[in-house]
Amino acid sequence: MKIINGSTYEGMCLEAAKIIKSQMSVKPTSVLGLATGSTPIGVYKALIEMNNNKEIDFSKTTTVNLDEYVGLSGENDQSYRYFMNTNLFDHVNIDKTKTFVPNGLASDIDGECKRYDKLIEDLGGVDVQILGIGLNGHIGFNEPNAYFDKGTHQVSLTASTIEANARFFETIDEVPKTAVSMGIKTIMCAKKIILLANGTAKSEIIYETCFGNITPNVPASVLQLHPDVTVIVDNDACAAIKNNIN
Ligand code: GLP
Repeated sequence: MKIINGSTYEGMCLEAAKIIKSQMSVKPTSVLGLATGSTPIGVYKALIEMNNNKEIDFSKTTTVNLDEYVGLSGENDQSYRYFMNTNLFDHVNIDKTKTFVPNGLASDIDGECKRYDKLIEDLGGVDVQILGIGLNGHIGFNEPNAYFDKGTHQVSLTASTIEANARFFETIDEVPKTAVSMGIKTIMCAKKIILLANGTAKSEIIYETCFGNITPNVPASVLQLHPDVTVIVDNDACAAIKNNIN
């Protein structure tokens, strides 16, 4: 694992955007694995700016998102499809028919999970996967578990994740209880992974992810086994790493 301290939130986001930019200049047809949550918003802002400045071209790019809430349509402003449209896709020269998010309204969720894994396989896999991290170490919506989930699957969100994500909804009761998420195996198959975290609240879990035991209790810890992971943090999220090194 390579760890980069971008100092500020903006610095962290710029480091991530630069990696994506160089990936796309080498391979314009790249498949980008994208994440939602507040953390990557600044990366998307930086990519939009690069696109406006003609430094990066999305016309041949395909994207696959990590996850989606079950029961929300893409028009719902809390859905991850809506998030991606408003935070990135609506502002860059991407062909929206090549942007994929799991369908949270599928009548057969298990079938949707299989379809999503097949789609990623048919695309030739993910070239760069962006990840945020939940306070409990979840990546995508792979919650702490007794084992590492493999492919795309339906997840029951933990009480702590529902509570953490309630800030985006009017009331906590509106937060969906289940989601469709790429599995750990799906994520680990990405050729390159960027894990992002900012803020003091993420400091301990980032330390555990990078230096703790590899355990499904901390799903992100499995990233220690991936050959090309870059962890990019700000000063606050880097605090526990610094304390334990000095
Ligand atoms: C959600 C998403 C994750 C994301 C996490 C952290 O649960 N499914 O992909 O990493 O939130 O969110 P935030 O970046 O807002 O802290």
